[in-house]
Amino acid sequence: MQNFTFFNPTKILFGRGRIADLAKEIPAGQRVLITYGGGSVVANGTLAEARAALSHAAVTEFGGIEPNPSFETLMGAVQLARETRSEFILAVGGGSVMDGTKFIAAAVPFPGEDPWDLVTRKAPVQAALPFGVVLTLPATGSEMNSGAVITRKSLGAKLAFGSPLLFPRFSVLDPTKTYTLPPRQIANGVVDAFVHTVEQYLTFPTYAPVQDQFSESLLRTLIDVGPITLREPLQYEARAAFVWAATLALNGLIGAGVPQDWATHMIGHELTAKFGLDHAQSLAVVLPAMLEERFEAKRDKLVQYAERVWNLREGDAETRAHQAIRQTRAFFESLGVKTRLTDYGIQASDIQGLVAALETHGMKALGEKKDVTLDVSRRVLERAL
Ligand code: NZQ
Ligand code: ZN
Repeated sequence: MQNFTFFNPTKILFGRGRIADLAKEIPAGQRVLITYGGGSVVANGTLAEARAALSHAAVTEFGGIEPNPSFETLMGAVQLARETRSEFILAVGGGSVMDGTKFIAAAVPFPGEDPWDLVTRKAPVQAALPFGVVLTLPATGSEMNSGAVITRKSLGAKLAFGSPLLFPRFSVLDPTKTYTLPPRQIANGVVDAFVHTVEQYLTFPTYAPVQDQFSESLLRTLIDVGPITLREPLQYEARAAFVWAATLALNGLIGAGVPQDWATHMIGHELTAKFGLDHAQSLAVVLPAMLEERFEAKRDKLVQYAERVWNLREGDAETRAHQAIRQTRAFFESLGVKTRLTDYGIQASDIQGLVAALETHGMKALGEKKDVTLDVSRRVLERAL
């Protein structure tokens, strides 16, 4: 295990009815900006519930944060927060609203001219408004981490940034608030949490049995509860396990002290920026191709993954490892998430543009060994056709 610092200050308020706790978490009289997305929280009553719990605060609202939140939209919220002198932000929504809120929190006190510098990491985050979360979509883990992914439409760029100042103060995880998710978003959430775990687990062996077995437990849980949640959307126990698995998949715990990959995510971001794939769709396309392309480097962990996650114990190790990759693809497809570029209308002739975008964004040495060059990324995309 490598040396590591583990820091996670986010307080979790888990379970039915926990939105009422907002009354205790946010002091009376505080000027609060509530942020939300395209209206799902209006339609299902979650926004009204949050508002009711904040009757003791001075609330302003900013809606319209879109999936893959854009700098262009978010700057409107920055302006509103400055005008209303907001002291606290409450994000009510999924990963896009949470990530957008992290950007707003950092941009409001930013003294420089262009807050985009925070996203490109030209300028460090030196201050941020405090914020909390009411989660409505289990997927990203943004509710308990300090990262965010922001799109600048005018540049066709989707970039990740983060800061220890950008952990939520608290996150309300009420599984029943996710009941109105359509099947596509449930499936997306399962795939995203699954791939987050894989990015931190399926690298090369180091002696890290705690992290490994914790990761395997998350993966097996997602394989179990994903289909149940799709089939029986109101089944509380499965939904609750899914929510908690998604949160733990990216709150720093399983990644502490172990090598991490993230090449699938970086290539996936380009697919979303250029072709508008949902985040999880992009991962479902890239991951199986990535694992096949880098089979040799990942062989030992693939064999472990095959045995412990997919219960593949018959036949030779190499065959089992390839079978595990096939089962991963089949799992995504069984949830309804397509795994080929051509399923999304992307052709071989599009690959050059994607590789060029990776180059522009400095993604030339990805992966746990920094050996995923542009050539390797190109081969991954070719395999994904
Ligand atoms: O916008 P509304 O109307 O709210 O509808 C949303 C949106 O259309 C809908 N939705 C959310 N909760 C709902 C609901 N519909 C019905 N009932 C509910 N309870 O779902 C749609 C997708 O929402 P979005 O927030 O975009 O999805 P997700 O949570 O998957 O977030 C994706 C974003 O997070 C980033 C992705 O890149 C993408 O931009 N990520 C953030 C990470 C992080 N901060 O750590 C890590 C991830 O790898 C990821 O990159
Ligand atoms: Zn992700």
